[in-house]
Amino acid sequence: MSTKKNKPHENKGNNRIPTRDFAFELLRKVKLPFNIRRHSINVANKALKIANKIKKIQVNKNLVEIGALLHDIGRCISHGFDHGLLGGEILLSYGLSERLARICETHLLGGLDKEDAKKVGLPIKDYLPNTLEEKIVCLADKHMKGRHEVSIEDRFQIWFKKYGKTKILLKSKRRVERIQKEIKALF
Ligand SMILES: [Fe+2]
Repeated sequence: MSTKKNKPHENKGNNRIPTRDFAFELLRKVKLPFNIRRHSINVANKALKIANKIKKIQVNKNLVEIGALLHDIGRCISHGFDHGLLGGEILLSYGLSERLARICETHLLGGLDKEDAKKVGLPIKDYLPNTLEEKIVCLADKHMKGRHEVSIEDRFQIWFKKYGKTKILLKSKRRVERIQKEIKALF
């Protein structure tokens, strides 16, 4: 009856980070291919390994783990450059945290800036990992080729062989190396 005070929207700024079980169930529910689910588990393990080494500042390990498990969920719809954005939309549609959606959006290559986004046909904005958790998942993903761990150098050499030394790949390599350096400085 009273309109004295605006009621805060219950859904505004949703911060929900689900449990591991919920994340697995969601990946099954959206029918994410089995090999990508296995890749996601490996990325989560690698991401936690990196997070555990960080001593100088606090890391939200729960966000890192669940974000890594869900980072490729968009691949149930597309394997293109849009799978990050689509993944974020899926997570938001399930009422999950925007911080998880951002991890999906920013994990491709070393993140994508506006110029990259335009080139690959994404809505033009920055998709660059900014938070520590976004950077850890992005880096861990670059270390896993499917379920095998590779160095950042090898990861990019494989891409260079496949796609050539394109501007976007060269830029991404520099970005990932910068992220790696930044994270190592926190050990
Ligand atoms: Fe991906």
